[in-house]
Amino acid sequence: MRTLLLAALLLTSVVRAETGQELFDRHCQVCHGPQGEGNGPGAQALDPAPRDLTLRPYKYGCGRRPILRTITEGVSGTAMPAFGNTLSQGELEQLADFVLKLSRQKGCGCKTHQ
Ligand code: HEC
Repeated sequence: MRTLLLAALLLTSVVRAETGQELFDRHCQVCHGPQGEGNGPGAQALDPAPRDLTLRPYKYGCGRRPILRTITEGVSGTAMPAFGNTLSQGELEQLADFVLKLSRQKGCGCKTHQ
Protein backbone atom coordinates (compact mmCIF):
# COMPACT_ATOMS: atom_id res chain seq x y z
CA MET A 1 0.00 0.00 0.00
CA ARG A 2 2.75 2.39 0.98
CA THR A 3 4.67 1.58 -2.19
CA LEU A 4 1.58 2.25 -4.25
CA LEU A 5 1.14 5.63 -2.60
CA LEU A 6 4.76 6.49 -3.21
CA ALA A 7 4.49 5.47 -6.84
CA ALA A 8 1.38 7.61 -7.26
CA LEU A 9 3.13 10.58 -5.68
CA LEU A 10 6.17 10.15 -7.89
CA LEU A 11 3.99 9.86 -10.96
CA THR A 12 2.10 13.07 -10.19
CA SER A 13 5.28 15.00 -9.64
CA VAL A 14 6.66 13.73 -12.95
CA VAL A 15 3.45 14.59 -14.77
CA ARG A 16 3.30 18.04 -13.21
CA ALA A 17 6.94 18.98 -13.80
CA GLU A 18 7.28 21.79 -16.31
CA THR A 19 9.12 21.24 -19.57
CA GLY A 20 12.10 23.36 -20.61
CA GLN A 21 9.85 25.27 -22.99
CA GLU A 22 7.34 26.06 -20.23
CA LEU A 23 10.08 27.18 -17.86
CA PHE A 24 11.54 29.34 -20.59
CA ASP A 25 8.12 30.90 -21.33
CA ARG A 26 7.67 31.71 -17.68
CA HIS A 27 11.11 32.99 -16.72
CA CYS A 28 13.02 34.00 -19.84
CA GLN A 29 10.82 34.99 -22.76
CA VAL A 30 10.04 38.43 -21.36
CA CYS A 31 13.60 39.39 -22.31
CA HIS A 32 14.86 36.71 -24.68
CA GLY A 33 11.61 36.39 -26.66
CA PRO A 34 9.25 33.43 -27.12
CA GLN A 35 11.66 31.69 -29.53
CA GLY A 36 14.79 32.87 -27.74
CA GLU A 37 15.65 35.39 -30.44
CA GLY A 38 16.27 38.28 -28.06
CA ASN A 39 13.08 40.15 -28.91
CA GLY A 40 10.93 39.82 -25.79
CA PRO A 41 8.68 42.70 -24.70
CA GLY A 42 11.22 43.79 -22.07
CA ALA A 43 14.18 43.74 -24.48
CA GLN A 44 14.10 47.24 -26.00
CA ALA A 45 14.90 49.06 -22.79
CA LEU A 46 17.96 46.94 -21.98
CA ASP A 47 21.61 47.73 -22.55
CA PRO A 48 23.32 45.39 -23.17
CA ALA A 49 20.37 43.80 -24.96
CA PRO A 50 19.33 40.24 -24.09
CA ARG A 51 21.06 37.68 -26.24
CA ASP A 52 19.56 36.05 -29.29
CA LEU A 53 20.00 32.55 -27.89
CA THR A 54 19.60 30.92 -31.32
CA LEU A 55 22.78 32.58 -32.57
CA ARG A 56 26.20 31.34 -31.63
CA PRO A 57 28.86 32.02 -30.57
CA TYR A 58 27.87 32.84 -27.02
CA LYS A 59 29.74 35.46 -25.07
CA TYR A 60 30.09 33.27 -22.00
CA GLY A 61 30.69 29.91 -23.68
CA CYS A 62 28.58 27.52 -25.71
CA GLY A 63 28.80 24.34 -23.65
CA ARG A 64 26.15 23.07 -21.29
CA ARG A 65 28.27 23.89 -18.26
CA PRO A 66 28.89 27.61 -19.02
CA ILE A 67 25.22 28.01 -20.00
CA LEU A 68 24.13 26.44 -16.72
CA ARG A 69 26.51 28.75 -14.88
CA THR A 70 25.10 31.86 -16.64
CA ILE A 71 21.54 30.89 -15.73
CA THR A 72 22.46 30.04 -12.14
CA GLU A 73 24.69 33.04 -11.41
CA GLY A 74 23.37 35.64 -13.87
CA VAL A 75 25.61 38.21 -15.51
CA SER A 76 26.55 41.03 -13.16
CA GLY A 77 26.28 44.52 -14.60
CA THR A 78 23.51 43.41 -17.00
CA ALA A 79 19.81 42.65 -16.72
CA MET A 80 20.48 38.90 -16.86
CA PRO A 81 19.23 37.68 -13.45
CA ALA A 82 20.64 34.86 -11.37
CA PHE A 83 18.12 32.04 -11.06
CA GLY A 84 20.13 29.92 -8.64
CA ASN A 85 18.04 30.92 -5.63
CA THR A 86 14.63 30.80 -7.25
CA LEU A 87 14.73 27.61 -9.30
CA SER A 88 15.59 24.05 -8.36
CA GLN A 89 18.73 22.36 -9.69
CA GLY A 90 16.51 20.19 -11.90
CA GLU A 91 14.77 23.23 -13.37
CA LEU A 92 18.09 24.99 -13.98
CA GLU A 93 19.37 21.93 -15.81
CA GLN A 94 16.20 21.65 -17.89
CA LEU A 95 16.63 25.29 -18.91
CA ALA A 96 20.30 24.72 -19.77
CA ASP A 97 19.28 21.81 -22.02
CA PHE A 98 16.59 23.93 -23.62
CA VAL A 99 19.00 26.81 -24.29
CA LEU A 100 21.52 24.32 -25.69
CA LYS A 101 18.85 23.15 -28.12
CA LEU A 102 18.05 26.75 -29.12
CA SER A 103 21.75 27.48 -29.60
CA ARG A 104 22.05 24.77 -32.22
CA GLN A 105 19.19 25.99 -34.36
CA LYS A 106 21.34 28.08 -36.67
CA GLY A 107 24.41 25.88 -36.68
CA CYS A 108 27.40 26.12 -34.41
CA GLY A 109 29.61 29.18 -34.72
CA CYS A 110 31.73 28.18 -31.76
CA LYS A 111 35.27 26.99 -32.19
CA THR A 112 35.25 25.08 -28.95
CA HIS A 113 32.66 23.29 -26.88
CA GLN A 114 33.99 24.33 -23.52
C1 HEC B 1 15.36 40.78 -17.33
C2 HEC B 1 15.80 40.28 -18.62
C3 HEC B 1 16.33 38.87 -18.72
C4 HEC B 1 15.73 37.70 -18.28
C5 HEC B 1 14.40 37.55 -17.55
C6 HEC B 1 16.59 36.62 -18.68
N1 HEC B 1 17.70 37.09 -19.33
FE1 HEC B 1 19.24 36.00 -20.09
N2 HEC B 1 20.22 37.68 -20.60
C7 HEC B 1 19.71 38.97 -20.46
C8 HEC B 1 20.70 39.92 -20.95
C9 HEC B 1 20.55 41.42 -20.96
C10 HEC B 1 21.82 39.15 -21.38
C11 HEC B 1 23.10 39.68 -22.05
C12 HEC B 1 24.24 39.84 -21.10
C13 HEC B 1 25.45 40.34 -21.85
O1 HEC B 1 25.40 40.57 -23.06
O2 HEC B 1 26.47 40.49 -21.19
C14 HEC B 1 21.47 37.75 -21.14
C15 HEC B 1 22.32 36.68 -21.40
C16 HEC B 1 21.97 35.34 -21.29
C17 HEC B 1 22.83 34.23 -21.62
C18 HEC B 1 24.29 34.32 -22.04
C19 HEC B 1 24.48 34.26 -23.52
C20 HEC B 1 25.92 34.42 -23.91
O3 HEC B 1 26.17 35.11 -24.90
O4 HEC B 1 26.80 33.82 -23.26
C21 HEC B 1 22.09 33.09 -21.42
C22 HEC B 1 22.56 31.64 -21.65
C23 HEC B 1 20.80 33.49 -20.95
N3 HEC B 1 20.75 34.87 -20.88
C24 HEC B 1 19.77 32.62 -20.62
C25 HEC B 1 18.61 33.01 -19.95
C26 HEC B 1 17.63 32.08 -19.45
C27 HEC B 1 17.66 30.58 -19.65
C28 HEC B 1 16.68 32.83 -18.82
C29 HEC B 1 15.48 32.31 -18.04
C30 HEC B 1 15.73 31.34 -17.00
C31 HEC B 1 17.06 34.23 -18.94
N4 HEC B 1 18.24 34.29 -19.63
C32 HEC B 1 16.32 35.29 -18.43
C33 HEC B 1 18.49 39.32 -19.95
C34 HEC B 1 17.58 38.47 -19.37
